[in-house]
Formats: sequence, C-alpha cells, structure tokens
Amino acid sequence: MTVLSPEPVQGAPTSELVLSMRGIDKNFGAVQALTAIDLDIYSGEVVALVGDNGAGKSTLIKILAGVHPKDGGTITDGDKSVTINNPAESGALGIATVYQDLALCDNLDVVANLFLGHELGRGTIDEVEMEKRSWELLRQLSARIPSVRIPVASLSGGQRQTVAIARSLIGDPRIVILDEPTAALGVAQTAEVLNLIERLRERGLAVVLISHNMADVQAVADRIVVLRLGRNNGEFKVADVTYEDIIAAITGASDNAVTRRAQARVGSPEAADDAVPPPDVAPPEEARP
Ligand SMILES: Nc1ncnc2c1ncn2[C@@H]1O[C@H](COP(=O)(O)OP(=O)(O)OP(=O)(O)O)[C@@H](O)[C@H]1O
Ligand SMILES: [Mg+2]
Repeated sequence: MTVLSPEPVQGAPTSELVLSMRGIDKNFGAVQALTAIDLDIYSGEVVALVGDNGAGKSTLIKILAGVHPKDGGTITDGDKSVTINNPAESGALGIATVYQDLALCDNLDVVANLFLGHELGRGTIDEVEMEKRSWELLRQLSARIPSVRIPVASLSGGQRQTVAIARSLIGDPRIVILDEPTAALGVAQTAEVLNLIERLRERGLAVVLISHNMADVQAVADRIVVLRLGRNNGEFKVADVTYEDIIAAITGASDNAVTRRAQARVGSPEAADDAVPPPDVAPPEEARP
C-alpha cells in the first residue's frame, strides 16, 4: 500500500519520519492478530489508528511499547533496524505509552504521580523542584489542574487523563501513544484532552492516537491509518477524507454485498436505465386523454 507522508502543519515544526514499522506479523497461538502491518510515525503529527474491536490496534501499539514481541517484520528508527524486547527498550527509543486504565496511584498527589520512578534529588527527594517542574509542565500543556498537591483520586476523569499524559512526557519522549484517551470522558473533558493532544503536536512530538470516536479523530488527527481484521485497510489524510470513507474502511463496507449492490444501483449504466420509468407505469394525469 502507499504510505502518505504528511504535509507540515502551518506553524508546527517540520515533520520527519521518526519510526517505521513494515510487514509486522503477530499471532497468539492460532489467532493471527496482525498480518503484514505497515505504520509510519512522524514528528509533529497526530496519526490516528482506527478499526473495529479486535482489529489489532492494541496489539500493534503493545509491540511498540515492548509488551509483546513481534513475530515478523521490521521496525526502523532512521536508517537502523531496532528491536523492542521490553518496556525499558521502548522507553529508551523515546516511546511513551498511556494506557486506557492510566495506571495512576490514586492516593498520591499530582507531583508524586508525575515523577513516580523519576524522582528528583540525590539521596533526598527534592519536592520543591518537582513541584516547580510539575507546574511548568502543566502550564506548557495549558492543563487545568486546581492543585498539584491533591491526591489524583479527587481529580475529574479529564484531569486524570491530563496527569497521565503529562507523566508520559517526563522521560522526554519522541513518540506518545494514547490508547482511547477520551473513551470515558464527557464533552468538556474530551475537548480538554483534544486540546492537550494539539499541544503535544506543537511541541513536535509524534502522537499515535487510538480512538473509536471519529469526531475526535477528525478534530485532532492529521492522518488516519485503518486496521481491519489485523491488516492495513486504508490510509487517509484527514483533510481529504469523509466520515463515510473512514467508516467504510473500518467496516469493510466496500466488500459487503449489500453495499456493492447499493453502489451498483447508483453508479452503474444499468442504474441510469433504472431511472427511466418502466413502460407499464401510468403516464401523469395531464397526459391522459
Ligand atoms: N494476549 C492475547 N492472547 C490471545 N489473543 C489476543 C491477545 N491480545 C489480543 N488478542 C487477539 O488479537 C486480536 C486483536 O486484538 P486487539 O486487542 O489488538 O484489538 P483492538 O483493535 O485493540 O480491539 P479493541 O478496539 O476492542 O480494543 C483479537 O482477535 C484478540 O482476541
Ligand atoms: Mg484495544
């Protein structure tokens, strides 16, 4: 399939290919979860990975996250081929993943969650510096968090998602992968998270967004990669594609018999013939003697 390279978004840093996956295969026993998947990831770009339940989206990003090893295919970083055997190797390649369950520690405050495992200070933890950096980071992301010293349990769903995304930035990644970041959120909170995704792109990060919500995808993504039954099933620039085209690629509507018949009726020469009323139709009232 042809892989589109994105046109740089105005005002954004130039887009460069960061990571390239080619011919990725993965099976779980008898289940062939992924077959010959291609995915390119560019800096300063949001690529949406869409597809129906079981299409293979999570499996593909778990290969990038070092959760599952791939069975076939290659991953290249610039001109060198890389392997990702565990989450630490994924992190070392500059890949950060935010899973749907967020994995926050509810009883700890925002600062502690942001720096969990990356605490600042030698011997003693430098709380003042961590708090300062937390505010800086949240300000850069235009995040609305009332206090960084309250337990994350008391934050709203959108604020918790914001903290999880902000935490992924602490290791200074090149790629941020978000698995269904707006799935559990209301309208205003969704808008806040979409806004945050735009901030990530402005920072020149590559964002891989998994979503079932086409409105979110069309609002924030630059490019859409569709998976269907573990295979690539189309790639579109958001600017060039309609909602119907995306849904058709996700559901495989173009190879569905009902849709084929409907298209044939609209577009084929026989369809034009159909438009002429058959001879046994009664003529209009005024034409009668
Ligand atoms: N650990 C596993 N063991 C066995 N089969 C698995 C495992 N993980 C995924 N699969 C199978 O691989 C296929 C792809 O699943 P995957 O979770 O990647 O889909 P998905 O696109 O993320 O779906 P959803 O939108 O429902 O999250 C499915 O058939 C699933 O049952
Ligand atoms: Mg999934």
